[in-house]
Amino acid sequence: MTESIAHGGKLVNRIDESFDYTSIQTEVTLDKTGLSDLELLANGAYSPLTGFLGKADYESVVHNLRLANGAIWSIPITLPVTKEIANSLKVGESIRLTYEGVTYGVLELEEIYSPDQEVETFQVYKTSDDQHPGVKNVLKRGDTYLAGPITLVKKHEKEQFSTYYLEPKETRKTFQDKGWKTVVGFQTRNPVHRAHEYIQKTALETVDGLFLNPLVGETKSDDIPADVRMKSYHVLLDNYYPEERVFLAVFPAAMRYAGPREAIFHALVRKNYGCTHFIVGRDHAGVGDYYGTYEAQEIFQQFTEDELGISPLFFEHSFFCKKCENMASTKTCPHGKEDRVILSGTKVRELLRDGKTPPPEFSRPEVVKVLIEGMKVSV
Ligand code: ADX
Repeated sequence: MTESIAHGGKLVNRIDESFDYTSIQTEVTLDKTGLSDLELLANGAYSPLTGFLGKADYESVVHNLRLANGAIWSIPITLPVTKEIANSLKVGESIRLTYEGVTYGVLELEEIYSPDQEVETFQVYKTSDDQHPGVKNVLKRGDTYLAGPITLVKKHEKEQFSTYYLEPKETRKTFQDKGWKTVVGFQTRNPVHRAHEYIQKTALETVDGLFLNPLVGETKSDDIPADVRMKSYHVLLDNYYPEERVFLAVFPAAMRYAGPREAIFHALVRKNYGCTHFIVGRDHAGVGDYYGTYEAQEIFQQFTEDELGISPLFFEHSFFCKKCENMASTKTCPHGKEDRVILSGTKVRELLRDGKTPPPEFSRPEVVKVLIEGMKVSV
């Protein structure tokens, strides 16, 4: 890809801070995921979506990975409530969407429907196991969905790293100002370890810029908190990346842990932010053993690059090889398992919590220092 056009052709903008909502009586309270979805719908990160999915789009996404009009979309963006709340609402009315008592959005309620969540979780997450963090969240949030277009009437003020929340129109302008024609997006919910750095820099050898776009919305409780991760990204960027070729901004969405489906979603959203390329490595957006190591890459075969509008860059499982004395993957290293420094995310978090240092071949000492300090505060 040499040009990034928003998914569906045009970047959606549904922000109107002058919208007069004072006469709207009905109110629905959002959870954190709902609030972040509202923002991302309004600022165009979820283009071409203009609101929470209606039944036809929802079913089409669940079964066909496409909206009813045929555009690729892989994760249902829904607004769940309880049956009791749904029974108190009327199709056709406007609803204020609030969080902690403050109105952030207005929903034009077009539809109320009861999804089959067993089918949804099985299709989207490939399991209905309620121990899967994404499935757990679907089941917890409510069994009746509200649908219709939204307007964002107030931007939620961020307490932490507020300057790193950029809208797609802002990131697009930034890339343009930097003169970047090709930009590779990198999704992560983790600190940047050596393997991440290796695949980012390998990609950076062939494109103009790297958009480091860590997800900072809701994650499962044992993932490393976003504030600690942000500090770790800064030490790394300050010491090991060419400043003029990397841009850091956060992705406020909730993590779904939907593996392959989420990889497609992550790619489409990064296209909306202005990326031409997107990195998909080993077990992208995976959790536990629910997905095969390369399933999140294989799913891209279902679509043409033209349709996707962003070029996925696939990477094999990367590691440090003691014999090569270098980062490598099975594509580039002939040595055996015994020479490879490989640690699971769970193992690394365990080490960090105990104040122990993962080896420098796994993670740079500057990063480890920040993480150990951060984990002391957050545990
Ligand atoms: S994710 O849930 O946000 O995908 P993570 O932060 O671990 O998790 O991964 C960010 C990106 O780096 C994903 O594309 C993932 O596939 C890739 N990745 C992580 N570790 C490795 C590795 N050792 N080798 C190759 N790719 C990796």
